[in-house]
Amino acid sequence: MSDKISLAIVGMGNVSTTLVKGFEFYKNSIQGLWHPKIGGLTLNDFTISAIYDVDASKVGKNISNLVKESKSEYGNLVIQPGILEDAIPPHISQKGQARSSSYDEFVNSLKKIKPDFLVNLISSGMEKSSEKYAKAALDAGCSFFNATAAKTATDQTRKAFESKGIMILGDDLMSQFGGTAFHRGMIDFMASRGILLHKAYQLDVGGNQDTQNTMAEEIRERKRQIKTESIAIESPVPFMSTAGTTEYAEQLGDSRVSYYWMEARGFLGSPVELDLSLRTNDSTNGCNVIVDAIRAAKKAISNKDFTKSEIISAYAFKNPPKKMHIRECIKAFEDTFAN
Ligand SMILES: NC(=O)c1ccc[n+]([C@@H]2O[C@H](COP(=O)([O-])OP(=O)(O)OC[C@H]3O[C@@H](n4cnc5c(N)ncnc54)[C@H](O)[C@@H]3O)[C@@H](O)[C@H]2O)c1
Repeated sequence: MSDKISLAIVGMGNVSTTLVKGFEFYKNSIQGLWHPKIGGLTLNDFTISAIYDVDASKVGKNISNLVKESKSEYGNLVIQPGILEDAIPPHISQKGQARSSSYDEFVNSLKKIKPDFLVNLISSGMEKSSEKYAKAALDAGCSFFNATAAKTATDQTRKAFESKGIMILGDDLMSQFGGTAFHRGMIDFMASRGILLHKAYQLDVGGNQDTQNTMAEEIRERKRQIKTESIAIESPVPFMSTAGTTEYAEQLGDSRVSYYWMEARGFLGSPVELDLSLRTNDSTNGCNVIVDAIRAAKKAISNKDFTKSEIISAYAFKNPPKKMHIRECIKAFEDTFAN
């Protein structure tokens, strides 16, 4: 068996496609990497052992059919059917059919491959499927990384994973420089300069499949709650806040625009007002965080230091089991794992 960090990925969408391209590109470069080395590991220390999806137009295809212009070493990997525990999302049912496997088939497939991590990158709103994937990872004895907003990383699951010498990390990936991280950074800077926030909003508009899926009212509300709570932690005083995805605009493609407005108070209650927008690319914005968190977890697991999952999840997710200030968790993460 190789010493590489072996990944099994569920959900062959935007982020997974970008990850595959990234592993190929970063064989010979470090340009654009947040942390070239984490826990002594580089991107050359990763390998992808399996990819699963439930979209019948993807299952059975080679990666090289789906990742355009890729000459990836993973090109011959065939996408296998995953688990489907929720209603078929409209973007799949409109295209054709779903193809899935049973829970036992999926767990057996994982047991055969023995990946270090099952990386959950399935569509928003597939909460039951995400929970089932977490259970499958536990049953198969591999660690679990949950980029979706489903609640999988709890005290109970953390203990269950740790008792098997593996880790669960989640929930809801916080992009490297996306709407939430930038919002948190601005509030932190204001507070560090003694300026107190009074009212704020962050309205996100995006053009990719995940944004379209997020438009379903229940999913939108759940994500709004997670974002708003994630941001609130940075302010020393409560403030009136709304943060969420408000519109799908196909013409934006994989990019996302966050519109911010903030009203704060200084000396004698003098007003400070900020009105700006940030445009980023969604899938690339997530990848540095994914590869950092997984390398850190690999290192912590090999040291049998499971307490570090708190720092890793606070660094990588909007809804971790223990929330930390953004500046504090980046520092704790880098102090522990950088290089
Ligand atoms: N920066 C980011 O892109 C970012 C940030 C935070 C969270 N996330 C989350 O990461 C996840 C992936 O994002 P994306 O943009 O790649 O989404 P996407 O819509 O492009 O891809 C999702 C893929 O999952 C597949 N899928 C759906 N249900 C499945 C199931 N039960 N089993 C296996 N596959 C299934 C779909 O067919 C699709 O191929 C989403 O939940 C998203 O909210 C991404």
